[in-house]
Amino acid sequence: MAVKDFDVVVIGAGPAGYVAAVRAAQLGLSVACVEKWKNARGEPALGGTCLNVGCIPSKALLESSENYEAVLHHFADHGITAKSVEFDVAKMLARKDAVVAKNTKGIEFLFRKNKIAWFKGQARLTGRGDAGVSVEVAGDGEPETLLGRNLIIATGSNARHLPNVPVDNVMVCDNEGALALPAVPRRLGVIGAGVIGLELGSVWRRLGAQVTILEALPDFLAACDEAVAKEAWKAFTKDQGLDIRMGVKIGTVAQSAKGVTIDFTGPDGKAERLECDRLIVSIGRVPNTTGLGLDAIGLSTDARGFIEVDGHCRTKLPNVFAVGDVVRGPMLAHKGEEEGVMAAEIIAGQKGHVNYDTIPWVIYTSPEIAWVGKTEQQLKAAGTAYKSGTFPYSANGRALSQGTGSGFVKVLADATTDRILGVHVIHAHASEQIAEAVLAMEFFAASEDVARTCHAHPSLSEVMKEAMLGVEKRSIHM
Ligand code: FAD
Ligand code: NAI
Repeated sequence: MAVKDFDVVVIGAGPAGYVAAVRAAQLGLSVACVEKWKNARGEPALGGTCLNVGCIPSKALLESSENYEAVLHHFADHGITAKSVEFDVAKMLARKDAVVAKNTKGIEFLFRKNKIAWFKGQARLTGRGDAGVSVEVAGDGEPETLLGRNLIIATGSNARHLPNVPVDNVMVCDNEGALALPAVPRRLGVIGAGVIGLELGSVWRRLGAQVTILEALPDFLAACDEAVAKEAWKAFTKDQGLDIRMGVKIGTVAQSAKGVTIDFTGPDGKAERLECDRLIVSIGRVPNTTGLGLDAIGLSTDARGFIEVDGHCRTKLPNVFAVGDVVRGPMLAHKGEEEGVMAAEIIAGQKGHVNYDTIPWVIYTSPEIAWVGKTEQQLKAAGTAYKSGTFPYSANGRALSQGTGSGFVKVLADATTDRILGVHVIHAHASEQIAEAVLAMEFFAASEDVARTCHAHPSLSEVMKEAMLGVEKRSIHM
């Protein structure tokens, strides 16, 4: 069997892998990318978790369900009334699938444009020598052997499941089933009040499901700034009716033709039972190296299953990198993309770098939650002296005219240098607002730098400026 050799072999075409492949090809390297994914129609597809069953389909359904809720509850404020509003789940799912297809076809286009060879199948590492790493690809046809002078592992992650609770993606779902429920369940149970639980719980609640979320931790959204978590709790529970139970311990989960029964104990130790028609298990994700054959090249994983890398995504082997969800750090698409670029640039002899201090987080609920940098509780715990400025959207003309006057921006800056240490946004469009704060922090800006920058009026961005002004207690409109 002829061996095909490349400057770079990338395993996995999620956001970390496909971006690494594109960047390496842009830099003049010959690149192969191995990807095994097949979509629901059995067709090979690029884009990994993010495009196929993650970021993109979830945002498509969030948008559809938000539109429905807006017609139902918010348009009347504008003097618009609609009679007999209906929705069609099958059509929403078809739209979501079309959005996904457009995105995955887009990556195919990028591969053709950059002359990246796509090998369709499961990659297995078979050995390593002076010439590089050997990779066997098992696809639909004859197995193929590749030789990569450099290797980038970007094999991503899989949903974590509960022990003894099989996921069939019909009654008991992980993210894949939760994005494809054929009808709105009357009672939807969710285990895990993290990002997926809140986003997908919101989708099905907006469409009419009665949603109960069971969370092990005692504190809601513990990674968020406490002020934001408090505001979000009120919005999700009191205003929107999500029933979120904190501090629970899950016991037996039983499935029958009628539905799913979850026995659990509450924080007071009292035995309780939740009966629902469908259950989503969203308790985190685990790095994926199944069947990869790491040991064939002398690599292993740490106790949690991650491939060990340094701050530049180098493994202990020269010319072997690992990026994205399969390595430490937040499991976010944009974090993986930055790492993919870094690895490709280092391979090409450049000085690739990722600033892990300025990776934004966004939760696409309604309102959205976005942040970058430190929370107030982290600064307190570290004993850092800080100043803070907060400004509400209720004092912003653009937000009021949109009907999005709830939420705020909170800025934390160093008490001595005024350098921005963290920015926290809770608002309908927080995902777009946070970009300015990320850029400011990337440039080591002081809060005064942003406060003295002219922002268009009327725009939501004025709230960012006012919160920055608030650090020196000189917001104009409050
Ligand atoms: P993946 O996207 O998991 O891709 C890895 C790829 O490698 C897969 O395609 C897999 O088939 C392939 N592969 C694995 N092993 C092999 C092998 N041996 N041979 C060949 N191919 C292999 N992140 C955000 O930043 N924003 C969001 O809004 C967001 N929403 C999400 C919503 C949901 C429901 C989920 C589940 C995740 C979401 N994420 C979001 C997280 C995001 O999807 C991941 O962080 C991202 O996909 C990780 O990229 P990756 O390239 O490391 O891995
Ligand atoms: P998560 O880590 O965000 O939340 C999991 C939650 O489940 C946690 O609150 C955890 O305490 C809880 N939990 C764990 N075990 C439990 C148990 N036995 N019983 C009850 N609760 C339990 O993970 P999630 O929501 O599954 O998402 C996985 C990852 O995907 C996220 O961490 C994130 O990296 C990524 N993602 C990102 C999105 C975004 O950027 N908007 C959207 C969706 C996912």
